Amino acid sequence: MTAGADDPPTPPPDHRVRIYEVGPRDGLQNESRPIPLATKLRYLELLADAGLHEIEATSFVSPAAIPQLADADDLLTALPRRPGVRYPVLVPNLRGLARAEAAGADAIAVFTATTDAFTTRNIGMTVSDSLDAFAPVLTRAGELGWWRRGYVSTAFGCPYTGAVVPETAVDVAVRLLALGVEEVCFGDTIGVGVPPQVRAIVDQAIRAGIRLERIAFHFHDTRGTALANVAAAMSVGVRCFDASTGGTGGCPYAPGAAGNLATEDLVYFLDAIGLEHGVSLDGVLRAARYIAEALGKPLTTKVGQAGGWDPATGAATGRG
Ligand code: COA
Ligand code: ZN
Repeated sequence: MTAGADDPPTPPPDHRVRIYEVGPRDGLQNESRPIPLATKLRYLELLADAGLHEIEATSFVSPAAIPQLADADDLLTALPRRPGVRYPVLVPNLRGLARAEAAGADAIAVFTATTDAFTTRNIGMTVSDSLDAFAPVLTRAGELGWWRRGYVSTAFGCPYTGAVVPETAVDVAVRLLALGVEEVCFGDTIGVGVPPQVRAIVDQAIRAGIRLERIAFHFHDTRGTALANVAAAMSVGVRCFDASTGGTGGCPYAPGAAGNLATEDLVYFLDAIGLEHGVSLDGVLRAARYIAEALGKPLTTKVGQAGGWDPATGAATGRG
């Protein structure tokens, strides 16, 4: 198709990337060492100090399912809000929504997946049943004027049933959008995805009528493909990526899941290729070191170890 004289001019490429921080939720949910509420609040403060605008704060799920986040009510109630920062929380059902509302939430994420085998273990429902359960949750959140996201976990592969085709992942995304979510996030829960799969999901999503600005990706770096997958998604126009400061994370119901793409690795990469995101690498490294110490673990992410790099001097930066 050629552009006609009346067509609007092609907009400039969008250089702004949204980094959606999942450290306080995905990063901590699988950690067995108890983390005091004050430590979580300080971690959240450091993340906002780093310039992160979207920080998934906690989960209003069953405390028996995720004991580490059983303090969600106290955490969200105590969390000082910052202008311009959104703090979404995970909600699986109306009970979770009521708890989130009482604690002052204004943004939620619901979460399902591509296979009944995974959702049955994670949330005790089939995929279809989960969508039925989310319908009233998303309707109520919409009435409250809340921002709403929907996760499609295991979009690249399932730890129980294996390969997943893009059509399946996109079908679930379409159903979530029909229920009112503003954004769908395709999760590579066990870190098996590769760039051609990323492009295939985006192609399929566009064919299904999903707009690019409604698509986010959530990559785990289990097999070292996360940044390559980000680059692939950016090449086809996606501009929202999840990441976890310090590279923490994993789902207790996804055997073999290792950490998320590290926020510091993502920020370094985006800076180096000249894309704007508003996040300070030094600030993220401070938060990464803080949470690693609280978890009693060394910081093993690439940029966490090497630091950033100043092309004016050749020196590493932000190593604390
Ligand atoms: N908040 C607090 N408690 C909740 C709850 C919520 N949102 N939803 C359910 N519960 C409680 C119930 O009251 C019940 O408690 P009881 O055993 O003391 O009576 C218990 O949890 C089980 O509830 P039930 O309705 O029978 O659901 P279930 O056992 O099938 O669990 C979920 C369904 C969705 C609540 C549960 O599987 C869950 O929270 N999963 C989250 C998993 C997760 O966060 N994974 C990581 C993200 S990828
Ligand atoms: Zn994750």
